[in-house]
Amino acid sequence: MLRTPGAVRDAERWTAHNYHPLPVVISSAEGAWLTDVDDRRYLDFLAGYSALNFGHRHPQLVAAAHAQLDRLTLTSRAFIHDQFADFCRELAELCGKDLVLPMNTGAEAVETGIKVARKWGYQVKGVPAGQANIVVAEGNFHGRTTTIVSFSTDEDARADFGPYTPGFTVVPYGDLEALTAAIDENTVAVLIEPIQGEQGVVVPPEGYLPGVRQVCTDRNVLFIADEIQSGLGRTGATFACDHEGVVPDMYLLGKALGGGIVPVSAVVANTDVLGVLKPGEHGSTFGGNPLACAAGLATLRLADDALYRKLDDTAAVVGKLASDALAAAGVPHRLSYAGSMFSVFFTDADVVDYDSARTQQAPAFKAFFHSMLAAGVYLPPSAFESWFVSAALDDAALEQIAAALPTAARAAAAAGNGG
Ligand SMILES: Cc1ncc(COP(=O)(O)O)c(C=O)c1O
Repeated sequence: MLRTPGAVRDAERWTAHNYHPLPVVISSAEGAWLTDVDDRRYLDFLAGYSALNFGHRHPQLVAAAHAQLDRLTLTSRAFIHDQFADFCRELAELCGKDLVLPMNTGAEAVETGIKVARKWGYQVKGVPAGQANIVVAEGNFHGRTTTIVSFSTDEDARADFGPYTPGFTVVPYGDLEALTAAIDENTVAVLIEPIQGEQGVVVPPEGYLPGVRQVCTDRNVLFIADEIQSGLGRTGATFACDHEGVVPDMYLLGKALGGGIVPVSAVVANTDVLGVLKPGEHGSTFGGNPLACAAGLATLRLADDALYRKLDDTAAVVGKLASDALAAAGVPHRLSYAGSMFSVFFTDADVVDYDSARTQQAPAFKAFFHSMLAAGVYLPPSAFESWFVSAALDDAALEQIAAALPTAARAAAAAGNGG
């Protein structure tokens, strides 16, 4: 008897419905492959929304975590442990910054960045008490806390969660003029994703990031780059900002930093910025715990140019396979790439922002998605999400996706025609 239906029912019964998961119940995974409770295998093109750059259970990462599990898992930050300084030093060096503040989830890193920027504004920039503002972008995704959803432009994320945290000004993404105009004497930071990923991959116009850097420098405003999704190799360089030679004042990192094993996030900046925090002003019981640092350290040591190239090359092959199959079936589509983060938009309009992303043919995507799932390929379940490859995708995996695509593309064509 299949175990999936019962497991799906139980999950529905006992958990809050803040997600709408697929009726697939995973019980194990290795590399790029997931196995469900009924022994069906799926190729994973979600890669933990970018947290699994190396694939599932990379042997070196698992070995580092096991070794740490056998020695020490948690101290709280009341003690220093022997993995802490190494992790922070190697991450600081990777970022070219002085200091690291480790947290757990991405949203916590964003919250931490906001607190640090506000404090910096009051103590260093001299903003009058309670007046600090931060400029953010339309279409942003920075997490789910009450403060972060306060400046989300996605009504589903925001509605009914007020009252909202004040102190944020939203401007169109990619529009340097609007961003510049929004900065006033009380602006302490600009907080943006160098590449947006929440409506599919949206890459800002060339020159935007250097322009943001320049205006932040000119106006004494911190440039905070949320590289939680785009960082650590996802776009073909260590950071998405690197592509345009831009160095922000603060990096926010997460996801891949934990090697797909434990949540690890961090705020990385120089002493003149992160140094504003004093003991007792910020913290987390689990932030920077020994297991997290061991997994994070092993991840940092694995991430190199070879990994970035492998991710990029794999994404290019998969994107082309998908595009060829859709073209052969006559399905209008657009590919948007940022290294190995890419989207297949089911539209013939150029996608530059949320409005253009919404021109997609949702029924076509849905039919495509379900056909791929039936063929054992697990894509992001929404037309507005990025596809994420992992370095573990091998030739067998590529053959499987190549074999599945033509049928899925024909299903999309039929659905797009109202069939
Ligand atoms: C750019 C960006 N920032 C922040 C977050 C929030 O991270 P977490 O889900 O770990 O809180 C995400 C998650 O998708 C993200 O993509």
